[in-house]
Amino acid sequence: MIRDDLHLRAPGNWLNDPNGFIYYKGEYHLFYQHFPYAPRWGTMHWGHAVSPDLVHWKHLGVALFPTKDYDQNGVFSGTALEADGALRLYYSAVRYLQTDGEDIHLAAGDRFETSQALVTSPDGRHFDNWGDKRQVLPVLTDPALGDRKDTRDPRVWRDGRGYCMLLGSTRDGTGRVLFYRSGDGLRWTYANQFASPALGRILECPDLFPLGEGWLFLGSPMWSTDDGLTYPHQAMYARADFDPETCRLSLNGPMTFLDWGLDLYAPQTALDREGRRVFIGWMRMPGPVDDAPDGRGPWNGMMSLPRLVERRGDRVCFPVHPNAAAAFRRPAADLSPLAEYRPVRVRTALREGEALDLGGYRVSLEGGRIIGDRSRVFDGPAGHRLTAATPALGEGGCDLDIFLDPHLVEIFVNGGQYVLSHVVHGLGAGLAGPRCDLSTL
Ligand code: FRU
Repeated sequence: MIRDDLHLRAPGNWLNDPNGFIYYKGEYHLFYQHFPYAPRWGTMHWGHAVSPDLVHWKHLGVALFPTKDYDQNGVFSGTALEADGALRLYYSAVRYLQTDGEDIHLAAGDRFETSQALVTSPDGRHFDNWGDKRQVLPVLTDPALGDRKDTRDPRVWRDGRGYCMLLGSTRDGTGRVLFYRSGDGLRWTYANQFASPALGRILECPDLFPLGEGWLFLGSPMWSTDDGLTYPHQAMYARADFDPETCRLSLNGPMTFLDWGLDLYAPQTALDREGRRVFIGWMRMPGPVDDAPDGRGPWNGMMSLPRLVERRGDRVCFPVHPNAAAAFRRPAADLSPLAEYRPVRVRTALREGEALDLGGYRVSLEGGRIIGDRSRVFDGPAGHRLTAATPALGEGGCDLDIFLDPHLVEIFVNGGQYVLSHVVHGLGAGLAGPRCDLSTL
């Protein structure tokens, strides 16, 4: 059986967004956008994995797949909640206006329409894709509300008033969030919307939850970094005010990158066993790789480490989830475990002007900012960003907690003040720079 430690990958072929992330009946469920036939994007299914601890993942195969007229071309992203003991999975159902003649997994001219649908599973193990699916919101026909194609990724939660649904959408080239309300989670009425250029041209994968005295809004605005470099779409967050009565949302500050490496996308949050807010994001990769020792074959796309969302005074911080950190129990002398696909944790501190070389990946502190440079360990096509920087760290030093995987570097600065993650094509075993504390699983 294929298992993954720390970073969930597809059991083979393609993975993108995390979906239906939830702690349910004593275990974590993580579904994901999955194309099971090739290591590229295509007709979307929901792959499914479970974990006791957010560290060790067991693959359970495909949970959701197209069966209905309205979702015949894809089961797009969505979220989970528990209702009367059952697991509800809300998702966007996609129907192409016409398939591409040479590739039925793509829409001709990228023309399709989207509705919102629900699958109810009695136990998180059985998914009746014929009997237990229903459409809960039809395709939007009123352009004043939102787009009939680009309205997707239902985020649904329950509160004292019933159920609330957020959808990412667009109108007149401006990203927006649509709000719907429901008493039973099945019949929905439009409640409100919020639009802003800060939400890009199209907003994907919105999320909203209380944090401290206010709320935190998370989303992936398309064309938020419109500078010609890959990737133009980025995961961002902002402090927010939200009135659940009227579904009135306002942002209390700029949209800020969730991860400064700019590879992470479409994050999704859940509450962990202890009630803490945790998120996982999709790490975009420039192409498939085929080096996994378990023979899963070519795969493309992986999940980030689970990260907490914490208020610290005026800041929002994203520390690594303690279960992931605690899994690194064995001391290591160098980075050689990576050659056997075992991750390595590197802890150190940098002073201004110092640099660390991690098997060809360079981390430095320059002008008060952490710079990550993957130019020697990245073989993606031209146009990809090779270096990335955090904002200036300010007072209080620079402690680094770095998690290395053969294809991913995740740098937690000052316990999550900033996080910078970079996809790489492989790392050597060499290590140079200030003294480091190394460990492995
Ligand atoms: C984000 C996204 C979602 C959509 C899904 C399709 O990466 O484009 O908006 O539901 O991926 O795979």
